[in-house]
Amino acid sequence: MVKPLSIKNLVKNFGGLTATDDISFDLEEGQSTGLIGPNGAGKTTIFSQIMGEYRQTSGIIELYGSDISKLSTPARIRLGISRTYQVPRPFSDFSVLENIRVGLMPDSIWKMITQGPNREREIELALSVGFSEDDLQQTPDTLSMGDLRKLEMARTMATNPKIMLLDEVFAGLTVGEINQIAKLIQNMRKENMTFLIVSHDLKALEPLVDDAIAINYGKIIAQGAFSEVISDSAVRTSYLGTE
Ligand SMILES: Nc1ncnc2c1ncn2[C@@H]1O[C@H](COP(=O)(O)OP(=O)(O)O)[C@@H](O)[C@H]1O
Ligand SMILES: [Mg+2]
Repeated sequence: MVKPLSIKNLVKNFGGLTATDDISFDLEEGQSTGLIGPNGAGKTTIFSQIMGEYRQTSGIIELYGSDISKLSTPARIRLGISRTYQVPRPFSDFSVLENIRVGLMPDSIWKMITQGPNREREIELALSVGFSEDDLQQTPDTLSMGDLRKLEMARTMATNPKIMLLDEVFAGLTVGEINQIAKLIQNMRKENMTFLIVSHDLKALEPLVDDAIAINYGKIIAQGAFSEVISDSAVRTSYLGTE
């Protein structure tokens, strides 16, 4: 069966540093995969290449069987893949609703002018990630880290993805906020969303994923069922600092 996402021999060099060193893996339709590894392992660099924000040094990225390696980021988003950022990137002068509007914006400015914003959908998305009516006109400077991550999720969902790449979605959140985001992910899993989730918080990650890929120094060091990956000795040495 054709895979939603297939990465083949991905290499990314930054000068003398190989940040992604011959990475190959597939995501399965409707499955959720954890991508784990210590700081600097290359997780975010994989996301940036999948989205076309960084061009790979070599290797191929396929979305539902088509090579997307040379497409622009907006073209990839149109094909149904999107990501969140480790450091939330809202437009600081825009309200919560306006930030979501950016994700919803149709491809052409002409459509935007003739159709105008889809306010109902903006509000629906904002409420679905847990914002209240009162939050909708807030600007990002007044939001907690939990709210900023919810906004990242809503902006990503606005592009109508089939595959979502989540980068450190739980970083800087309270337990209550982690639970909210986790619930949101669980609901989308029921609707057959395919996820690749980076998280340092293995406890929060475990119930959300079917399997895991562990990387260190840009290479895959273990892959398979989450419980097996986190108990793998190479992973424990690299990632958990224990043996
Ligand atoms: N734009 C860049 N220029 C040079 N080096 C980079 C750049 N982005 C990431 N790196 C390096 O690539 C390696 C992998 O980084 P990153 O993908 O951010 O790791 P992770 O997300 O797993 O913490 C690190 O050594 C980092 O310093
Ligand atoms: Mg990172």
